[in-house]
Amino acid sequence: MENRYLLISDLDGTLLGDDEALARFVGWIEKRRDQWRLAYNSGRLVSSVMESVETTALPQPDAVIGGVGTQIHQFPTDTPLEGWPADLEGWKPLEICNILAEYDELELQPPEFLSDYKISYFVYGASDELLRQLDRRLTEAGCRCNLVYSSQRDLDVLPMGVNKGTAAAHLAERWFFDKDHVFVSGDSGNDLAMFQNGFRGIVVGNGHPELQELDPSRVYQAESHYADGVLEGMNYWLAQDMENVNPAR
Ligand code: GLC
Ligand code: MG
Repeated sequence: MENRYLLISDLDGTLLGDDEALARFVGWIEKRRDQWRLAYNSGRLVSSVMESVETTALPQPDAVIGGVGTQIHQFPTDTPLEGWPADLEGWKPLEICNILAEYDELELQPPEFLSDYKISYFVYGASDELLRQLDRRLTEAGCRCNLVYSSQRDLDVLPMGVNKGTAAAHLAERWFFDKDHVFVSGDSGNDLAMFQNGFRGIVVGNGHPELQELDPSRVYQAESHYADGVLEGMNYWLAQDMENVNPAR
């Protein structure tokens, strides 16, 4: 495939949320599919993402990053990328669960949201202080992991160095895309890392406040919501390219 651009997008609250907006997005990208490779990047596991592909208007993706960066599958073959997560040293799921069980405010998410490399909790309105304390406690116990907090509710504990951003960067590199040709879109805290990897970012208009303080030279804050916001952002970045090619216009 000789595609020119890669879109890596979150689903819930980003491409999904408004069916009419999704239909407009689908119409746009289907017309240009020879130029675009498409990857979804979700907090949900790959199997759950593919259920959404079957039951909504979402186009078939070329890859799915699932479980907050912990899985990277290429499609249509559904083949996991080997060697990811790259660094599992100090990943001790049992110890992590035992330590975090001491905190009453943390509620383990149901089993279908958990995997070998993703331990997730509900914890409502966690303070920065609590998050720092959990991080310190785990580090002191020799657990090397990465905490991601989203939507004032979801706490994901992942292997060190793994998040939606590093997984997106790994995929883009595997596919030889340079960063200016990779567009990333999202709406909440677990997307933050995607916006810190030098790609062209799009925060949809309904995005959470946790994504508002990002470098405006790399991250476009759309006004429109859900898939309309993604489209607005893609048009914004493509128009920037046109200006660079022909500054007089
Ligand atoms: C999705 C996942 C959940 C995770 C959240 C934030 O909702 O199902 O497990 O905590 O994303 O990453
Ligand atoms: Mg989301």
